[in-house]
Amino acid sequence: MSSTRFNLLQRTWDSRARTWDHGASPGLERVVKAVLDATGASPGKKVVDLGCGTGSLALPLARQGAEVTAVDISPAMVGQLREKAALDGLHGVTCVVCPVEDFDLPSESVDFVVSNYALHHLRDPDKALLVKRAFGWLRPGGRLVVGDMMFGRGASARDWTIIGSKVSVLARRGPSGWWRVAKNVVRFSFRLQERPVDMRTWESYFRQAGFSDVTVEPVVAEAGVAFGSKGLPT
Ligand SMILES: C[S@@+](CC[C@H](N)C(=O)[O-])C[C@H]1O[C@@H](n2cnc3c(N)ncnc32)[C@H](O)[C@@H]1O
Repeated sequence: MSSTRFNLLQRTWDSRARTWDHGASPGLERVVKAVLDATGASPGKKVVDLGCGTGSLALPLARQGAEVTAVDISPAMVGQLREKAALDGLHGVTCVVCPVEDFDLPSESVDFVVSNYALHHLRDPDKALLVKRAFGWLRPGGRLVVGDMMFGRGASARDWTIIGSKVSVLARRGPSGWWRVAKNVVRFSFRLQERPVDMRTWESYFRQAGFSDVTVEPVVAEAGVAFGSKGLPT
């Protein structure tokens, strides 16, 4: 990742870290639950959480006894996660401050790769590449689980329903909401920070990487969960 992009992303996310947990919504909690359910980690399993933020996945997974490597570009987000892990007396979380595009692991070294609401920030070729690399990191029988915004830029009726409902929620807030609508139109149209892709595209990334038993399902209006397994050798 270029140093300009790296610095911009760190500044943006560091500035949101302190208040990030206050913005949690019931919808987001349902997506987190869907990712955790699809993961089904058990004690001693090795898990990598990509774009971990303040620990929505990493902390519950560590409480279940998993050994979690939590990766995020923002030192402040990771700082919040470390504080919460220490308060809970959790020792099974190792934090890595790094862009996920540059993160690497030995092949076949982990049981699960998980991510929540982070990968839509990546450029599309980087999403596809990351899914491929995750396939390489997983042990046979391992699983990749991604929860994220999953919609396109208007190619389907579902896209328009999601875009329409986001606009009407913001517009009802008055001038501050209209300003957010304008900012989001620019961000989504030019794919500056928010680059969601639809469920079919996620499915194709998983299949092209070699995953089997690929499932992609909606969880709440704008978000879904995608998961697939790395088959055991026959
Ligand atoms: C929307 S937050 C989600 C955080 C957390 N997974 C959750 O469920 O609350 C996105 C997170 O992805 C991180 N992030 C964004 N782009 C990244 C990148 N290229 N590499 C690593 N982390 C990134 C941000 O710092 C932020 O913590």
